[in-house]
Amino acid sequence: MQSTLTVPEAGRLHVAIIMDGNGRWAAARGRPRTAGHRAGARAVRRAVEAAVEIGLGTMTLYAFSSDNWKRPANEVSTLLGLFRDYLRGQAARCLERGVRVRVVGRRDRLPADVLAAVGAAEVLTAGCRKLALRLAVDYSARDAILGAASRVRPEDAGSLDRESFARLLDPAHPDAGAAPDVDLLVRTGGERRLSDFLLWECAYAELCFLPVMWPDFTRAHLEAALSDFASRERRFGALSRAASA
Ligand code: FPP
Repeated sequence: MQSTLTVPEAGRLHVAIIMDGNGRWAAARGRPRTAGHRAGARAVRRAVEAAVEIGLGTMTLYAFSSDNWKRPANEVSTLLGLFRDYLRGQAARCLERGVRVRVVGRRDRLPADVLAAVGAAEVLTAGCRKLALRLAVDYSARDAILGAASRVRPEDAGSLDRESFARLLDPAHPDAGAAPDVDLLVRTGGERRLSDFLLWECAYAELCFLPVMWPDFTRAHLEAALSDFASRERRFGALSRAASA
């Protein structure tokens, strides 16, 4: 299926995805939740390949929320292991495809092997310019905003603009500049909530909730979400084109 967006348009887009439904996908097949996460990791690989082929500018994937620490220990270690294995196994492929990998979220609670994989993938792909892939791990948007607020210098407190504040949201990459605002937020799995994901960056995001469980997500679903996005009129608080003509 072809996207209705032309590549130059897609190249400016930031698509963020809440990858939900792994557990239900597994339960429907009588398998453990961890099997759903393994299938979910395969869907991540497909989604990244699709994003490159479509020509997206930025894609942020919600891989592990700060609230996911509340899950059973074996599920947490499976998720973090899959994340580590993705970085180890796909970093070279990302380099080859021009995908710059950055991990956003807290790092101080990640196991050493995960941290090492994060560092290696970020260094290897630092020069890539085609797709900016952001993986949110131990991530909470409210904590990111609180952290940014705590990093505002007292002398800037009264005069900080939004762009300067946004640069403080990701302390792991202080020279990276602010991530672009999210244009399209996709959530799979049928639920309709934001779950503490990119609350600042999604101020004017178009929201797309899909019934498909994440392990079944394919390029066609991403194309369909982008087609839906392309049909919407974004007004950013201004009047519609028709009303202002
Ligand atoms: C939500 O499904 C999904 C997660 C909490 C984790 C997402 C992780 C992956 C897709 C795999 C690993 C990540 C990478 C980047 C390789 P859920 O378990 O809450 O599903 P449910 O709502 O059906 O229970």
